[in-house]
Amino acid sequence: MFTFLRAPYYQLIATRLIKKHAYKRKAFEDRDVLERIIFPYILAKFNPKKILDIGREDYQEFYNEFFRGRELWTIDIDPGKLEFGSLHHITDDVSNIKKYFSNNSFDFILMNGVFGWGLNQREQINKTFDAIHDILKPDGIFVFGFNDDIIPLKEIEGLKKLSPFDFKPLSGCSFNCLNGNHKYKFYTKQARNT
Ligand SMILES: C[S@@+](CC[C@H](N)C(=O)[O-])C[C@H]1O[C@@H](n2cnc3c(N)ncnc32)[C@H](O)[C@@H]1O
Repeated sequence: MFTFLRAPYYQLIATRLIKKHAYKRKAFEDRDVLERIIFPYILAKFNPKKILDIGREDYQEFYNEFFRGRELWTIDIDPGKLEFGSLHHITDDVSNIKKYFSNNSFDFILMNGVFGWGLNQREQINKTFDAIHDILKPDGIFVFGFNDDIIPLKEIEGLKKLSPFDFKPLSGCSFNCLNGNHKYKFYTKQARNT
């Protein structure tokens, strides 16, 4: 596909998927931001081949369709979430993710609503972010969505090893959604940090 067609193409796909599967959302609510803005931009700009989505709820099952034809992995600690995962689903604590993947594996990692929603212990958090840093490919993108800093982000070593990424459609490296206090932060891994 011509490069200039990628953005409108994935925007169209997102619009269709949202219309088909999603409940009505207000513009710039957390899920609207993720599905209408973040996913299409990442698909168009990064063309990710291998993706990891951490934490899966029923309302996310259709996310598999955004990444059709790509190698999408999902992980959730709760065995009951298996049915909402991708074809490649792991039931485990995300802090164990390095058991399954070698360094520099993923083009795109999403962890939304898990920090503070089960990923709560400092040691477990540090292990998880170290692993995310390691399994992300150089120049890959990590999208981190959360509500509260249950521990200060500046104390998370794995996160500090990543570099903030300027997410152009949301005008910066961080975006505060209009509902609650949900925010997204965007990171990349510099090639020198591999
Ligand atoms: C509030 S839901 C958010 C799910 C989803 N990622 C989203 O965007 O809304 C939290 C999910 O993370 C899972 N989870 C919580 N702690 C986890 C952990 N340590 N490892 C893997 N999954 C975890 C829960 O089982 C649940 O499915």
